[in-house]
Amino acid sequence: MVSASSLSHISLSLSSSPFLHKPKFHYPTKNNLHFNPKLVSFSTTRKIYATSSHVMNPSPSKTHSAVPTTVDVDLGDRSYPIYIGSGLLDQPHLLQRHVHGRRVLVVTNTTVAPLYLDKVVHALTTENQNVSVESVILPDGEQYKDMDTLMKVFHKAIESRLDRRSTFVALGGGVIGDMCGFAAASFLRGINFIQIPTTVMAQVDSSVGGKTGINHRLGKNLIGAFYQPQCVLIDTDTLNTLPERELASGFAEVIKYGLIRDAEFFEWQEKNMHALMARDPNALAYAIKRSCENKAEVVSLDEKESGLRATLNLGHTFGHAIETGVGYGQWLHGEAVAAGTVMAVDMSYRLGWIDDSIVKRVGDILKQAKLPTSPPETVTIDTFKSVMAVDKKVADGLLRLILLKGPLGNCVFTGDYDRKTLDDTLRAFCKS
Ligand SMILES: NC(=O)c1ccc[n+]([C@@H]2O[C@H](COP(=O)([O-])OP(=O)(O)OC[C@H]3O[C@@H](n4cnc5c(N)ncnc54)[C@H](O)[C@@H]3O)[C@@H](O)[C@H]2O)c1
Ligand SMILES: [Zn+2]
Repeated sequence: MVSASSLSHISLSLSSSPFLHKPKFHYPTKNNLHFNPKLVSFSTTRKIYATSSHVMNPSPSKTHSAVPTTVDVDLGDRSYPIYIGSGLLDQPHLLQRHVHGRRVLVVTNTTVAPLYLDKVVHALTTENQNVSVESVILPDGEQYKDMDTLMKVFHKAIESRLDRRSTFVALGGGVIGDMCGFAAASFLRGINFIQIPTTVMAQVDSSVGGKTGINHRLGKNLIGAFYQPQCVLIDTDTLNTLPERELASGFAEVIKYGLIRDAEFFEWQEKNMHALMARDPNALAYAIKRSCENKAEVVSLDEKESGLRATLNLGHTFGHAIETGVGYGQWLHGEAVAAGTVMAVDMSYRLGWIDDSIVKRVGDILKQAKLPTSPPETVTIDTFKSVMAVDKKVADGLLRLILLKGPLGNCVFTGDYDRKTLDDTLRAFCKS
């Protein structure tokens, strides 16, 4: 049996550190481009809803084609493309074809604006004299994902006389994307919007799927709407300025897709995590594409989260307790998810649902991504229990968790597990 303590002692040996070598990107084989999602408890027949055009050119050149990879999110009349590639902000037509009306408001923050705002305004206006572009630059941070800051967006939109045929553009990470999306959903009862995500977290997760919203002081993301963009434009070059901790945090969600539904992708990540950490543009583009395909497919099957979409929360119930326990902002979301994933995997193993090789592989890949594999000591069992509301809900069979079950790439969303096993996992990872 692999105990939690042995897990937390798997350490990255410096002598074998992949970072000492020039990153080598392992190109996907023709075979593994056709991923094979399996969901133990949800799908019997498989239908591919997310389709990609233009498979990445497997020649290792940095000047990869100007043609973006496109992943389509299939939601009937609310379908939209996700464009992925290097240099896409230098291709004005990609953005311009999704702008409705003559007025555009770019919503960004004080960190991202100096880096990319000019480029985006240029892309929107070049050879396009009919469009007027305004911007609103919000303070940076999760603590500003609130009603007061949202009002600044509305204020600017009203002042700039935006009408129902105008377009909002979200330029930034998940905080900006969530907030701008909610502003677009509610301004004049809904106007067009475009996502230009600039963090890994936003490019592989938050910009896709239409969950938008803000925080309330009593809880995260409690006020919001499901609202889909016109398109998502992912210029992978924007990741060059992202701090390393933010980069790694996003990889926690990439790893999640492999674990819950795409074993081949997980295996690819095991071979290419060093290239991802070194920001190899081709490796990044491939990981983002495959993550978007997985997310798009889940969202197409279950847009409003009646079941399947919940599997995207692997590690998030434990992770949320960690984020709350250490205080928001201390650990990045992906860091908490990483430690939470290790706990969910440990619990799956204790239940006898997965074998120990998966436990080890999860610990190893998270360490390669320089992500934590156990919660901070300050988060106690009591904190976990109160945040997870274990005492009451598990007795009622209501605390449902995403756990791994079966071979790599399979998961279940279930409340049907032995309560003692959850206690054992909590005891293994924290002080009482
Ligand atoms: N809607 C969804 O489905 C969904 C899914 C996951 C997360 N989220 C939300 O996303 C948020 C987290 O997103 P995040 O991790 O992107 O955090 P973030 O938006 O706070 O961005 C992280 C930091 O990176 C900076 N930054 C952004 N792009 C940069 C760039 N290219 N170069 C340099 N710095 C850059 C930001 O200004 C910020 O300081 C949370 O609010 C979370 O609730 C939403
Ligand atoms: Zn997440």
